[in-house]
Amino acid sequence: MEKKMYKTVSIYLKENEKSNLLELIDKFNSNFKKEDIYLSYMDEERIDICLREINFSKFEEICFELSKYNPVFTTIYEKVSNIKSYGIKNNKRNYVDYNQERKVKNREKKEKKRGQYYYAYDHNFKKENNSLPLEFENKIICGDSLEVLKQLPDNCIDLVMTSPPYNFGLEYDNQYDANYWEDYFNKLFAIFDEVIRVLKWGGRVVVNIQPLYSDYIPTHHIISNFFMNRKMIWKGEIIWEKNNYNCKYTAWGSWKSPSSPYLKYTWEFLEIFSKGDLKHKGDKNKIDITAEEFKEWVVAKWSIAPEKDMKKYGHPAMFPEKLVERVLKLFSYQDDVILDPFNGVGTTTAVAKKLNRRYIGIDISEEYCKKAEERLKGIITNKELFKNIKTGS
Ligand SMILES: C[S@@+](CC[C@H](N)C(=O)[O-])C[C@H]1O[C@@H](n2cnc3c(N)ncnc32)[C@H](O)[C@@H]1O
Repeated sequence: MEKKMYKTVSIYLKENEKSNLLELIDKFNSNFKKEDIYLSYMDEERIDICLREINFSKFEEICFELSKYNPVFTTIYEKVSNIKSYGIKNNKRNYVDYNQERKVKNREKKEKKRGQYYYAYDHNFKKENNSLPLEFENKIICGDSLEVLKQLPDNCIDLVMTSPPYNFGLEYDNQYDANYWEDYFNKLFAIFDEVIRVLKWGGRVVVNIQPLYSDYIPTHHIISNFFMNRKMIWKGEIIWEKNNYNCKYTAWGSWKSPSSPYLKYTWEFLEIFSKGDLKHKGDKNKIDITAEEFKEWVVAKWSIAPEKDMKKYGHPAMFPEKLVERVLKLFSYQDDVILDPFNGVGTTTAVAKKLNRRYIGIDISEEYCKKAEERLKGIITNKELFKNIKTGS
């Protein structure tokens, strides 16, 4: 078999990895078929792992055994286990031709012909963006978002991160949360129309949604359809895996019966929409996501524990700061303006402040707004610190 048919990974040897190497390479190779994997001694400085497919547990076992005699086998194990693109066939990891049948020729031409996001053509969005008036910058505003948002100019917000009331019947401070579904959506969509209007060209809306499965209302689809009907581009969807496996198994009559099994969900959704353009332009110097974070977070399933401090904040439906942190770093630049029209006790605004974004948070409850303000007071940004040092306060 020719070498080019393998995936090749080179290892540059450290001094302490050079002794008794040839003998151990032979030992390693004798455990595998050459067409699956072999180690090739290139010179005193380097060995190559030639890799096609492996039974990973056997590979792990052999590396562990040989690492007792030479630490290079730990490196070999780490290098191979860090390769995340492979297919599984006959219980083996396949590193070479696992995605051959998925390769599409002339991809761009075909995309054009299909009409990427055809549903979002012919919109009337303005391209000129406006600044957020200073009286709204870094403010928590108590009021009905429908009324408050009307005071903002068009195209002045970079990113909206929010979770609307779910209509689950939760005990919010001053607002009824079990409305007739159609009324609920009518009110929500009137607010979202304002959200779209105030969003900049290229701005994003990220909506965290948990459908009420017991009412068989697929809220995430209904909300997504609304945004698409309004010509917003569906940028994608993130599964927020909460790992809360404490749900009870069934209601009476559906246990272990095909009559009406009740499906369980341990996750919520983040639906993401762009206005006018998938690209959100910004200053490269204002990017704060690290390479590691980027690699991990573009994989659209995020495992994050639910907020633990809801009792402390006195709010029944908060999202955790970690969720907001990922959204803000992945979809916005520092100094961008972040809006949450259902800001609750201010998770979005607190994280925005921590991450040096500007913010505006709106909630209908005075009590929640007070808590959101208190939360902000506890966060001192570098800018504020610098100002305090300069003024001696
Ligand atoms: C799911 S909670 C958001 C919680 C928030 N993400 C947090 O972490 O604190 C929804 C919030 O929407 C607020 N709300 C409901 N109707 C509203 C309206 N018309 N205008 C502004 N806020 C509203 C509720 O008071 C509630 O705090």
